[in-house]
Amino acid sequence: MKKISALIDAFFKGIGRSRVSVIGAMIVTVTFPFLLGLVLIDGIFHIDNPYLGGFIYMVLGPAFMLGLVMVFVGLFFLKGKEEVRLFTLEYLREHFTDETRFNRVRKLIFLGVFLTGVNLFIIALLGYSGYHYLESNAFCGKFCHTVMNPEYTAYQNSPHSRVHCVECHIGSGATWFVKSKISGARQLAAVALNTHPRPIQTPVHGLRPAKETCEECHRPDKFHGDKLFVKNKYLEDEENTLNQTVLLMKIGSAGSGTEQPHGIHWHVAEENVITYKADHKRMVIPEVTLTRADGTQVVYRSEDAAATVEEEGHGTETREMDCVYCHNRPTHIYRSAEQALNEKITDGAIDRKIPYIKRQAMEAITQKYATQEDAEAGIDNHLRNWYRENLPELDQAQLNKSIAGTQEAYAKNVFPEMKIEWDTYVNHIGHGTDFDIGCFRCHDGMHESESGEVISADCDTCHAVLAEDESDPEILQTLRGE
Ligand code: HEC
Ligand code: HEC
Ligand code: HEC
Ligand code: HEC
Ligand code: HEC
Repeated sequence: MKKISALIDAFFKGIGRSRVSVIGAMIVTVTFPFLLGLVLIDGIFHIDNPYLGGFIYMVLGPAFMLGLVMVFVGLFFLKGKEEVRLFTLEYLREHFTDETRFNRVRKLIFLGVFLTGVNLFIIALLGYSGYHYLESNAFCGKFCHTVMNPEYTAYQNSPHSRVHCVECHIGSGATWFVKSKISGARQLAAVALNTHPRPIQTPVHGLRPAKETCEECHRPDKFHGDKLFVKNKYLEDEENTLNQTVLLMKIGSAGSGTEQPHGIHWHVAEENVITYKADHKRMVIPEVTLTRADGTQVVYRSEDAAATVEEEGHGTETREMDCVYCHNRPTHIYRSAEQALNEKITDGAIDRKIPYIKRQAMEAITQKYATQEDAEAGIDNHLRNWYRENLPELDQAQLNKSIAGTQEAYAKNVFPEMKIEWDTYVNHIGHGTDFDIGCFRCHDGMHESESGEVISADCDTCHAVLAEDESDPEILQTLRGE
């Protein structure tokens, strides 16, 4: 007991001699209990609050570490001239050879080792849970709420909602962790200073190559065959008539071993390397180069596209084609107004039995609103007024449910605060109805090699259209065995 109190005594005397140490010690003492308590609570109960996490790992943690550093800097380096010798070899030798002196420093050494142990434990705990916090969806998606809300909402409304942000944006390994934290710090500053763009600009040029992210989970070399796509659409008539488009999509394979690369995933086969030049938005592609396994090259050029790039005046970037070139919205999927409502009617959130509901909902969600709250009220008003005037006998429960469904179609896809309107972000997975995006950036029949080969624009290259906008298409009846 006595020994320990003497030890502590010596330590505090040491600290007391330096003002820097005193301030450091005060910071450490104040932050220590909160920090330990909160880290343990966070570790045990996994609190999903981004601000609590931010407070622990971005404020308390660094403050605690700063305090520690100040204590030690003060203790060893800032105590007046005499003690500067503390670390010199001669000084140590003197102390260790003289027994009484040795006893004096021994206390300090023991205490130092003990406290360092405690501190290392806390720092390790802090590092471990801090690392997990910085990698968590709560931090990525909610900390800068307004800014990330669109991406986070769209992500939750997608097939990847159980894949963590970091699995696509950072991936494994220390290099990308550090890279992401450096760019993250810049982004955090932009949010704090309110200088970030609205909406966030795409494409994301610094995204990690898809080989190291998507291909950790997906293996296009193992895909095969075709896949049936059935798309439900509802007309803006009294019955909200269901029309269906049926496509047999040639998913194909990137091929491996005996299997030949074919179909849509032929592009990502190891034996084909496709590089392209594109404008800064990756919307216009003047040149595509295909290098085959045997080393032969075909260069396809489009004069039209070259002229457009020239006009824009931003020059081009050269990239190798990877997953994200087509799947640029694998998880931040913003539907068009049409798609959003079709989905809501299909899954029953909007009641198809209400006459004209597709048309009225479409009118309601395509108005301009200043905020999501305005939109909620506006959509409610729009629908309620119209049905009160035109169909007063309508069942109110049915209407209420459909209003909620319509509001959700809007809230999941439009974010006025970030200037994200319908169709702000382009999805390149198909070609749109104007045949000018996605696949058609290359497959437009205008990209030609010197020997006259053209990147195919034939409708059957990618899919067989088995039915287009038909009510009760025959092909589906056949498939169902009717
Ligand atoms: C399945 C993979 C995947 C997951 C999971 C994912 N992202 Fe993304 N994210 C992408 C891709 C791919 C892009 C690039 C889009 C482009 O370049 O056009 C992107 C782009 C973004 C952008 C730029 C703006 C935009 O909409 O394109 C932000 C911001 C973003 N992600 C944040 C997040 C956050 C926050 C999470 C977790 C809540 C997350 N991402 C989860 C793949 C993913
Ligand atoms: C951590 C694993 C993981 C990563 C990384 C990942 N995915 Fe996925 N992805 C999944 C899972 C799981 C599903 C299936 C979800 C389902 O069927 O509901 C899926 C589904 C898909 C689908 C099919 C979606 C649909 O509508 O059926 C596509 C396309 C896709 N991923 C592309 C990508 C791309 C592109 C990337 C890289 C930017 C990526 N994935 C990264 C796990 C992952
Ligand atoms: C040339 C454009 C293109 C490239 C490059 C591409 N895909 Fe696809 N992929 C498609 C299309 C088109 C579909 C089918 C339509 C859809 O899913 O909406 C598809 C479907 C998929 C599916 C769903 C398959 C199924 O059977 O449901 C997954 C998973 C997928 N791709 C992953 C990847 C991954 C991983 C890469 C990169 C290695 C990749 N794709 C590269 C265009 C592409
Ligand atoms: C960067 C340019 C580029 C884009 C974008 C692109 N392709 Fe291609 N694609 C090519 C080239 C080059 C070829 C080879 C020439 C050819 O077969 O016409 C090709 C060939 C194909 C083939 C035939 C593969 C085989 O079996 O030989 C299919 C199918 C295909 N693309 C589907 C798609 C789909 C679907 C998309 C959009 C999701 C798409 N491509 C987007 C460049 C592109
Ligand atoms: C280079 C590949 C490619 C070519 C060429 C192509 N398509 Fe498509 N098309 C796609 C893909 C991929 C999708 C599906 C995207 C998705 O998942 O929604 C699609 C979707 C469609 C759809 C359904 C759209 C919807 O959502 O209702 C129709 C209709 C269609 N294509 C017609 C055509 C016609 C007509 C041509 C010929 C002029 C053509 N396509 C040429 C790749 C192609």
